[in-house]
Amino acid sequence: MNVTLRIKRFDPDRKPSSWWSTHRLEAEPSDRVLDLLVRVKDEQDGSLAFRRSCAHGICGSDAMRINGVNGLACKTLLRQTGARITVEPIHGLRVERDLITDMDPFFAAYRKVQPYLINDDPLPEDGRERLQSPAERLRFDDTTKCILCGACTTACPAFWSDSEYIGPAAIVQAHRFVNDSRDRGAAAHLEALRGTDGIWRCRTIFQCTLVCPREIKITKAIAEVKVALARG
Ligand code: FES
Repeated sequence: MNVTLRIKRFDPDRKPSSWWSTHRLEAEPSDRVLDLLVRVKDEQDGSLAFRRSCAHGICGSDAMRINGVNGLACKTLLRQTGARITVEPIHGLRVERDLITDMDPFFAAYRKVQPYLINDDPLPEDGRERLQSPAERLRFDDTTKCILCGACTTACPAFWSDSEYIGPAAIVQAHRFVNDSRDRGAAAHLEALRGTDGIWRCRTIFQCTLVCPREIKITKAIAEVKVALARG
């Protein structure tokens, strides 16, 4: 494939506003967008900045906007994108450089739902784990798949219009713990979802579900958390 890759660039030390760089490469349909970015950095422009770590869809660090849709560069094949590819940083967060955004507000929202098991009950007498049936585990199986890439929150128009909105990724984490039969902290997980910047800011737009690289049914999870919150 003869590929044309356009990358939205930003470097406040070089220019006050963003610009586009264009790169032409020979590649295979089975190559990933991440492979192209690595090649551009190695062969054409060492100043290109982007995040990546695992390169296998696990760490969640290379979420970006690819041909106008959020996705992971390491999971997006050229046979999916075609030969003309446009790559931009995810929207709604401050761009620090090129494809790198400031993720601090995203992780601050994540921490607000207290995303960990809360249970001060005494341990079972045998001192071993708190048991759970397969059916109980199934209730939050889908939301355990989240890798905190931020693709969902930064694809959400409600988040673009209100950067204080807690966003779908944080709600997914609340869902994971609120539905865990071993957890006793539902009130604590849900507290951050009340108020004008909480879960009711969600307008059921489904963008989060469409872009999730782990195919989590995010809108469904949000609806279930809304029910949990409404029941108090
Ligand atoms: S580099 Fe880790 S998810 Fe893509």
